[in-house]
Amino acid sequence: MDYTGDNVKNNIITRAKKLFTPALVFHTDIIVKKAQGLYVEAADGKRYMDFSSGLATTNIGHCPPEVIKSVKKQLDEIIHSGCIFRYHSEILFAEKLKEITPGELDMFFFSNSGAEAVEGAIKLARFVTKRQGIIAYTGAFHGRTMGAVSLTTSTAKYRRNYHPLLPSIFRAPYPYCYRCFLGQNPDTCSMDCFGYLKKMLRHEINPDETAAIIIEPVLGEGGYAVPPLNYMKELRKLCTQHGILLIADEVQTGFGRTGKWFACEHFGIVPDIMTIAKGIASGFPLSAVVSTKTIMFKWPPGAHGTTFGGNPVSCAAGIATIETIKADKLLENAAKVGKYAMNCLKDMQKKYPVMGDVRGLGLMIGIEFVKRDRSPNRDFLKKVLNRCYKKGLILIECGIDKNIVRFMPPLITTMKEMEKALEIFEKAVANSMS
Ligand SMILES: Cc1ncc(COP(=O)(O)O)c(C=O)c1O
Repeated sequence: MDYTGDNVKNNIITRAKKLFTPALVFHTDIIVKKAQGLYVEAADGKRYMDFSSGLATTNIGHCPPEVIKSVKKQLDEIIHSGCIFRYHSEILFAEKLKEITPGELDMFFFSNSGAEAVEGAIKLARFVTKRQGIIAYTGAFHGRTMGAVSLTTSTAKYRRNYHPLLPSIFRAPYPYCYRCFLGQNPDTCSMDCFGYLKKMLRHEINPDETAAIIIEPVLGEGGYAVPPLNYMKELRKLCTQHGILLIADEVQTGFGRTGKWFACEHFGIVPDIMTIAKGIASGFPLSAVVSTKTIMFKWPPGAHGTTFGGNPVSCAAGIATIETIKADKLLENAAKVGKYAMNCLKDMQKKYPVMGDVRGLGLMIGIEFVKRDRSPNRDFLKKVLNRCYKKGLILIECGIDKNIVRFMPPLITTMKEMEKALEIFEKAVANSMS
């Protein structure tokens, strides 16, 4: 993103660069004055449509009034417990969560971030199975803490200089069909990637030593790829057959992002453990490890803990988030607007072969930009993103080659707003051709 030469902006960015480690990367140079719903107003007065949803988090928009109201009320009661006291917002939030989590996933451990939930999930899986092996997927993103980054391979950059990482982690190829790891294409596919996973359980780690298989039901940071229905169904069966716990990392896919509460529902499967965060509390830090009573009751007192997890204010935000999604029928809206966007993007793809693949579920859509030989076209996407940004549309990329753009607006996005975004996007693609 280019800097506009605005003095205020430069001053703030210069100050920030002196204060914060360069390890933390920002996607834009926008300095926010106010954010509301889909829109972000910058300090220089420019207004943007936030199609990044603050990294798939502000699922019901920025600063939702219902959340603000609920949070304000909570602030007058208690803002921190540190596991010393019980409080109403945590209980009520868990009860509301229980109504929307699939199957018998009705017991929770609350923490603060996605990575923390992933840490909790792998600890839970190892503890209850007394097995050590964990199978994760190539290209997956599960977070940056030491345990989570040991599972993350969306890029080796995130792992550089941190070895040795957690041992006994094994890697299966993600069913990323557009770029099949095993060289198949949808016409020739015989789910060799699933065969590969089964071979791993013979060659690399015995099933009875495997605690869990962790998968993002739609690959997030790794490329917004949707696995085949059959893969997920077979995976569920395989785990059940061997007593391996299936962990669905729904940190990015959850809370309505794909047009259902959780992406697993698209595949008709229920995992044994689910990790959720991001959209759960509209931007307040909150995450959860979710599992069944049978599994959770095998995790005894003291086996895991937290100071801030399940913060009363975050839980109050979570309650209002769930209520708003239900009251405003936002799952239905996400499914409808997402379907419309997908159709328009597929039509666009016919005109612009540089859009190699368009895929996704609900409002989790990825468009992969390619060269003539189908190799990743990062430079082209960069031009598109810059043009969109100048026209007031914030989109961010993903994938190891950063050639995939993610359409992930909040679930409140109207058809009209989507139309406008698509118009900006198409113009940006067309103008970048020359
Ligand atoms: C699928 C998935 N898991 C885990 C995480 C880590 O979440 P956090 O950044 O809150 O630690 C992310 C973050 O993008 C994610 O997309």
